[in-house]
Amino acid sequence: MAKADLLSAILERASLISFDESKSISEEDLKKILTAEIRAPSAGNIQPRTFIVVKDEEVKERLYELCENQKFMKAAPVWITICLDLHRHLKASKLTGGDYDFTGILPYTFGVLDAALSLENMVIAAEALGHGSVIIGSIIEHPQKVKEIFNLPEHCLALSILYIGHPKKKPKRSEKWSYKVIVCENSYRNISLKELLEYWRKLVLNSLKRSGEKPTRKDVEKACRERSYGIAYSNHYRGICEKLEQESDALLDGVRVAEVTGCEV
Ligand SMILES: Cc1cc2nc3c(=O)[nH]c(=O)nc-3n(C[C@H](O)[C@H](O)[C@H](O)COP(=O)(O)O)c2cc1C
Repeated sequence: MAKADLLSAILERASLISFDESKSISEEDLKKILTAEIRAPSAGNIQPRTFIVVKDEEVKERLYELCENQKFMKAAPVWITICLDLHRHLKASKLTGGDYDFTGILPYTFGVLDAALSLENMVIAAEALGHGSVIIGSIIEHPQKVKEIFNLPEHCLALSILYIGHPKKKPKRSEKWSYKVIVCENSYRNISLKELLEYWRKLVLNSLKRSGEKPTRKDVEKACRERSYGIAYSNHYRGICEKLEQESDALLDGVRVAEVTGCEV
């Protein structure tokens, strides 16, 4: 694929929520996608990430239940679980006499960044090969159960599952915050409350339509109020933001995470 084609694959990409069950992914393509994952950038090249290809039907069933029975998952031929994995680093560090402190927030933050970069590499590789994909994040809300399912070691946390397959029909691209809202120059810029609300309503409406709903104005207002990451996850995240603020002022360069993310709202 030419570079220009790769760029249009990125710009045209949309998550699949309807897979063509009759079409599979060849082992050759799967290997290319997983190799793209390995080639992603990584802080210190530590690569704190492990990817588990799920083939066992019983395991799939258990994950399906944890992911709120989102039906389209079952039609996807390829399931890949993405783990933030500091286990290898810890072991290697200890074996070589290191006493690296894994309790801080920095390994977690860099680990999530690393895992996300390699996850996106797989998303792009799948697009470049003419397939489609969707990420489902629900497993993050059940860390203990997922740990048991995959027999994960200490310091290894499953973050998401990537589903790859063929679209039944070309998915519509989603609404995004506009370029002028999301891209700042030199310093953070707040948009007006009016603009903020307009965009928020547009984004939420688009997401509701994506799931096949025909929402009324009232539905949209309710969804605008309620759209979040789920209580358990939000509380977890709030804790992380607070820790980040305490521990990593220099890292954040004076920007308060809670302000940027809206965690305190
Ligand atoms: C971490 C993460 C978790 C997600 N979880 C779900 C999910 O549980 N169900 C779903 O239908 N889509 C899920 N998605 C896909 C998003 O809904 C999708 O990316 C978003 O609507 C934007 O659409 P687009 O990918 O087509 O641009 C998730 C995406 C990410 C990055």
